[in-house]
Amino acid sequence: MDKKKLAAEHAVASIEEGMVLGLGTGSTVYWMIQKLGELVKEGLKIKGVPTSQETEALAMKLGIPLLQLADVHEIDLTIDGADEVSANLELIKGGGGALFREKMIASISRRLLIVVDDSKVVTTLGKFPLPVEVVPFGWELTSRKLRAFGCAPVLRITDNGPFITDNGNYILDCHFDTIHNPEELNKHLNLTIGVVENGLFVNMADTIIVGSNEGVYTKK
Ligand code: 5RP
Repeated sequence: MDKKKLAAEHAVASIEEGMVLGLGTGSTVYWMIQKLGELVKEGLKIKGVPTSQETEALAMKLGIPLLQLADVHEIDLTIDGADEVSANLELIKGGGGALFREKMIASISRRLLIVVDDSKVVTTLGKFPLPVEVVPFGWELTSRKLRAFGCAPVLRITDNGPFITDNGNYILDCHFDTIHNPEELNKHLNLTIGVVENGLFVNMADTIIVGSNEGVYTKK
């Protein structure tokens, strides 16, 4: 079985009747949302809070009842993907460009469950370029300031020009190679003029479900 699907479907066992659920973004969590759609059709009562327009459209198509973030003070459980997971459960997220809403929703979640395949598990973060969401105005200046952190920022481009986030911003993919102190970097990046949010999730994930060729394993 597909390793992403394996991890994502395993996570569904943590969902309980009546929960408010944060619905992550990406090709791994896609499988959890599909399964959730089936459970809702069978009568499970939950409400979802989507982390992106993409997830919102998918959940609506599957008939999953949704809440606006404005109406929610706390989320019982968020299930999301990640691009890298370190030995200390720090994450790099934002490969799909949804990092700001994902972090906002994670910040009010009682539990954050991350689903990945085993290629995402690393000792130290940094091989995957760190996505940083920046305001389009003056992005070149922000990019120069980010270089001072020892990385090479690259503007994310699509066939139609710069990638635009759900919040109308750009993404700079910052090539670090190794991130030695994610907690410090997270704080300092967000103090840089023009930065909206960065893809480092530190002290946020509670449990990681990893899909591998040998089956599923959990990291806490
Ligand atoms: C989107 C994300 C995704 O969760 C992350 O990129 C993992 O995606 P995938 O499951 O498709 O590999 O952070 O912003």
